[in-house]
Amino acid sequence: MCGIIGYVGRNAATPVLLGGLRRLEYRGYDSAGLTIQQAGGLRTLRAVGKVARLADKVRAEWVEAEVAAGHAGIAHTRWATHGAPTEANAHPHSDATGRIRLVHNGIIENYRHIRAKLEAKGHVFASETDTEALVRLIGEYHKGDLRQAVIAALRRVEGAYGIAVLSAAEPGVIVVARKGSPLVIGVGEGECLVASDPAALVAHTRRVIYLDDGDVARVTADSVDITDLDHAPIDREIAELTFEAGAVEKGGHAHFMLKEIHEQPETVGNALRGRLDLVNGTAVLSGMGATARELLDFQRVVMVGCGTSLHAGMVGEFALEELAAIHAEVQPAAEFRYRNPLVDGRDLVVAISQSGETADTLAAVREAKDKGAVVMGLVNVVGSAIARETGRGVYLHAGPEISVASTKAFTGQVAVLLLMALKFGRGRRLSGERGQALAAEIARLPKLIEAVLAQDAAIAAVAARMAGHDHAFFLGRGPMHPVALEGALKLKEISYVHAEGYHAAELKHGPIALLTPGMPVVVLANRSPVLDKVLGNAEECRARGARVIAVVTDGGPPVAVADDVIRIPDCDPLVATIPAAVALQLLAYHVARLRDCPIDQPRNLAKSGTVE
Ligand code: G6P
Repeated sequence: MCGIIGYVGRNAATPVLLGGLRRLEYRGYDSAGLTIQQAGGLRTLRAVGKVARLADKVRAEWVEAEVAAGHAGIAHTRWATHGAPTEANAHPHSDATGRIRLVHNGIIENYRHIRAKLEAKGHVFASETDTEALVRLIGEYHKGDLRQAVIAALRRVEGAYGIAVLSAAEPGVIVVARKGSPLVIGVGEGECLVASDPAALVAHTRRVIYLDDGDVARVTADSVDITDLDHAPIDREIAELTFEAGAVEKGGHAHFMLKEIHEQPETVGNALRGRLDLVNGTAVLSGMGATARELLDFQRVVMVGCGTSLHAGMVGEFALEELAAIHAEVQPAAEFRYRNPLVDGRDLVVAISQSGETADTLAAVREAKDKGAVVMGLVNVVGSAIARETGRGVYLHAGPEISVASTKAFTGQVAVLLLMALKFGRGRRLSGERGQALAAEIARLPKLIEAVLAQDAAIAAVAARMAGHDHAFFLGRGPMHPVALEGALKLKEISYVHAEGYHAAELKHGPIALLTPGMPVVVLANRSPVLDKVLGNAEECRARGARVIAVVTDGGPPVAVADDVIRIPDCDPLVATIPAAVALQLLAYHVARLRDCPIDQPRNLAKSGTVE
């Protein structure tokens, strides 16, 4: 989820690249760098922090005449996935000779293998990144033709990439390639640009070529030559950009929240990539650093987090108990840190946090460490405080979450918790057969989410019938109880509707007194062992005149009590928590839109709570 920009043409490349990076900064902002091609070779500058820091460095270290002389260059703004946000890990990365430089978005899954092979040949790596393995491999294959070397290397990598590469030996040439990570070429007059996102191009040209997966292009100031990985020529049409630059940053969506909701097939895919072992029905979570023996020895898993991350932990509690038969519990981090928690060396404490900076969660980590527990992080932001202090855990790879209301981080957290539960389960009591079935269900998640997103219009219609109400209930049982809490949280955060998430069976013990005719009650009534009970609870609401909105399993029996239905695809009840959560995110989004609320920056909220 980083940003790439490249330029070759009649103008000086440096100002174009810095301008492009500023437009891409919303995608990633922990470090940035650029490489310019000059008569004497390649010159690179990198800086930790925002693009402005890189611009300062360019002003301080590069003479103006040098800047003016570089007519080709590549640049990158990084959002760390492998390795902390340091200057050494910032892009562009270099091959062993220093004559090839590369910027990369995506994840090279087999980089450890490539790195080990190259190190055996004497390579000394300068960074912890997966990217450096790729550029060094390109260097190994380079015999004078950059594109050929890039193709040879790409044929040996697994994973996702959008890349732009420069060679000192080929002035005025940028080679780009994509697989699973977007790349677009801007075709101007006597100049071409390449970028991970059209947002970086619109200031220069509206004529663009979108690359497809498997495309490799050799780009000069006045030519674009595309082939596939077998060197066969490919013809791609030039398209015309019709949108405004501001809209592009949101990928054409009206809000970052909507963009992030729609990114979830990809982000959950990233969280799962390389981590599911379908054959053995288990998960590969190397960052946990726990052996099967250690998993057996834990007496308990205690999860801590705040807000949405706390709700993810509550789903994890069900998954761990059901699949791994281990005592699991979740506690608000703010509570855990002050209650003198009963944890010791036989307990695993998992700190769940999107930002990795939440003060209460960080304090809970320290408290758990002081008590001798084994502590892991389940974090989105690489190199964040919680990631550093836990030292081990699992990254979400969801990319930067800009909207204050968390969406893709939540589904990433639940996906990773399902993987953890699967791994624990197989280390403890889960049979191979059940493990395989569940791994196959988890692997379907990107498709399951897509099926929910495809119903956007239907969910918007349900939202239209809800938007006039100032109160709502969300009900669920089992693992859907935390999803109900999260659905209610989304609605109150962004639409200012007073929404209560409740255990469906608890409603009658008090809150049912609040029901008034027409009040929306969202009931999570998917296929599950407790469906009949949930439907009974929905009936109780209907009998008081409430308007029941049922989230049901597509193809399941009709739900007579429902005034409105939202369908999620049929899947395992634990796995169903993710598509159900996506449906409720869309519901909240549309209610907030119809109520004309400032969706990305709701009043009184902050993206992360760095104070108690
Ligand atoms: C803030 C945000 C919430 C978030 C919570 C925990 O309150 O508004 O959306 O869930 O912090 O943040 P974390 O980064 O630790 O997941």
